Amino acid sequence: MTRSLSDVAKVDVVVLAAGKGTRMYSSTPKVLHTIGGKPMAQHVIDAAKRLGDVALHVVVGHQADSVSSALQGADSFVEQREQLGTGHAVAQVLPTLREDAITLILYGDVPLIQTQTLERLVAGCTAQSMTLLTVTLDNPQGYGRICRNTDNEVISIVEQKDADPQQLLINEVNTGIMCIQQSCLVAWLPVLSNTNAQNEYYLTDVVAMAVAQGIGVTSVDAPSPEEVEGVNNKLQLGALERCYQRRLADALMLAGTTLADPARVDIRGELSVGQDVFIDVNTVFSGKVTLGDNVSIGPNCVVSNSSIGDNTELLANCVVDQATLANDCIIGPFARLRPGSTFAEKSKVGNFVEVKNSSFGEGSKANHLAYVGDAQVGAGSNIGAGTITCNYDGANKHKTRLGKNVFIGSNSTLVAPLDIADNGFVAAGSTIVKTVVADSLAVARGRQKNIEGWARPSKKS
Ligand code: UD1
Ligand code: MG
Repeated sequence: MTRSLSDVAKVDVVVLAAGKGTRMYSSTPKVLHTIGGKPMAQHVIDAAKRLGDVALHVVVGHQADSVSSALQGADSFVEQREQLGTGHAVAQVLPTLREDAITLILYGDVPLIQTQTLERLVAGCTAQSMTLLTVTLDNPQGYGRICRNTDNEVISIVEQKDADPQQLLINEVNTGIMCIQQSCLVAWLPVLSNTNAQNEYYLTDVVAMAVAQGIGVTSVDAPSPEEVEGVNNKLQLGALERCYQRRLADALMLAGTTLADPARVDIRGELSVGQDVFIDVNTVFSGKVTLGDNVSIGPNCVVSNSSIGDNTELLANCVVDQATLANDCIIGPFARLRPGSTFAEKSKVGNFVEVKNSSFGEGSKANHLAYVGDAQVGAGSNIGAGTITCNYDGANKHKTRLGKNVFIGSNSTLVAPLDIADNGFVAAGSTIVKTVVADSLAVARGRQKNIEGWARPSKKS
């Protein structure tokens, strides 16, 4: 019977994140490179914290300050000034680990590790046995190999660079993730030696020490190679990003969402969806996005931190950021909704319309080629093609307020601050600078004059 976290001793989690990541060729520390918009090490922290009430410590080294300020949820960050090996890294946290706890050791650059797998490692770790997460790979190149005796018991881990030709043939490898009693680490880490091919203090040497002390070593098989794959370069980062996205796409489809192509949607944050949602190709969701029932997202949309109500449609090529859309709206194609924009039911925003920090009342429309900034648009109002709210005087932003059923003729310029009351009507091509009272027509343009029989200029001979 497996034990749940509440049955076992306290769990101290140690996330190793001191490495430089030379092969990323980046000024960003390796563990802060993102998968699904979230730093790799944050994925690891989040997976560990889902175990329950754990204490969590991150070992930082390379760019320690930026790593520790970017990550959330750790109880402490412990600096490893020199990277002398994984055993040395864990030794830095030793004084922080609780005496009666078991220690779960994770890597900050193995981002897809799942909580269920960690639960199995925790459940198998007792005073008499440590657990080791292993995986069998077709190509074990670079990894530490799991050595077993004739009874198939784990006896040691040998690193690639220290392995003999026979050991190099072993396909079962160490993922680096293990769970072990604090008392074992206290006893063994100080006596690790660095006389090996890399002159490093190998954490993996504790396995042979456990066997020598009569502590059993239980291996737990990783459910899939991706789950335990580490990232050393951008190629591996790209591959794991695809695995992660596929996982999210599969979960969405299993929950009832239709994806035109599960390989062509990217979720960089949290997406929650209602029933019968359709998402077309090449859409990117970032931050926290909520889609209601029957929402349809056209191809090539970018939606960030927004909420979209039932039956609302985003047509192709829309960019929606920090906007709130109620039910039954139609947006796009080619609309840009910027932060602070809210749309009441049945509002419509058409092609080449930019909206910023504005509210659209029920059934209001801006169907073509407009800029609506810092405006309040009353219910049933219509903003004609080419209308611009002049909200900025070069120093300050000003509000434009349109009442209900206002009609703004095409190619109008609304110079804010400005009020146009209910049923106000602005003639096309007007530049409006003064209040328009209710039920009135505002015309502010040069009068048309026709000159009959006018002779066009002709070329001089
Ligand atoms: C390690 C394991 C190897 C395993 C492999 C899985 C050891 C000795 N070897 O090898 O058996 O197959 O991982 O990927 O443990 N780190 C520190 N401080 C250090 C050294 C490393 O924080 O001084 C961190 C790194 O940032 C990284 C992790 O520990 O997140 C693993 O270090 P790395 O150098 O990649 O170990 P490997 O040689 O790959
Ligand atoms: Mg490695």
